[in-house]
Amino acid sequence: MADTASATVRSAITTVGVDDPTKRDLLKLVTGSAVVIGVGAIAWPFIDSMSPAKDVLALSSIEVDLAPIQEGQAITAVWRGKPIFLRNRSAQEIKEAEGTPLNQLIDPQSDADRVKPGKEKWLVVIGICTHLGCVPLGNKTSDPRGDFGGWFCPCHGSQYDTSGRVRHGPAPSNLGLPPYAFIGDTKIKIG
Ligand code: FES
Repeated sequence: MADTASATVRSAITTVGVDDPTKRDLLKLVTGSAVVIGVGAIAWPFIDSMSPAKDVLALSSIEVDLAPIQEGQAITAVWRGKPIFLRNRSAQEIKEAEGTPLNQLIDPQSDADRVKPGKEKWLVVIGICTHLGCVPLGNKTSDPRGDFGGWFCPCHGSQYDTSGRVRHGPAPSNLGLPPYAFIGDTKIKIG
């Protein structure tokens, strides 16, 4: 398995230009995954009989304070090694997300099914493009957000709307939704 992981990393290094920040993010993700796989293969015989420690279980969830995120802004958190996009949507962005007919969607899903009731301004999605796993652009104010105001993936041009739903390009499905719950007015627990 370690050989396969190494081959994957070598392949990623030869095909991804590290000068591009977005591709660097992908490289970090791929490299991180390979390291986890490699360590897992070596460590498994030693830890097979052990129960997970409490601190390991605690790492499976994170808490994020949304209060500092201004309207229209988004930030990236990391949960279980994955980028999580947290966006404070404007009234206009919510209106566009809610008003999009489902028959215009590649992966039909209503906006209401992608946010928590009463908390429509907060969109929480896994920031990994469903095409080949790049991290789409759109969280920084200087980033391109594509024609639908959400995120733009420069790999092959997939575009996501303000609900994180794929609207254009080769990505087959919407940005994933992590399990999360509000534990305060502007505080969430992911995982
Ligand atoms: S990984 Fe997003 S378009 Fe290819």
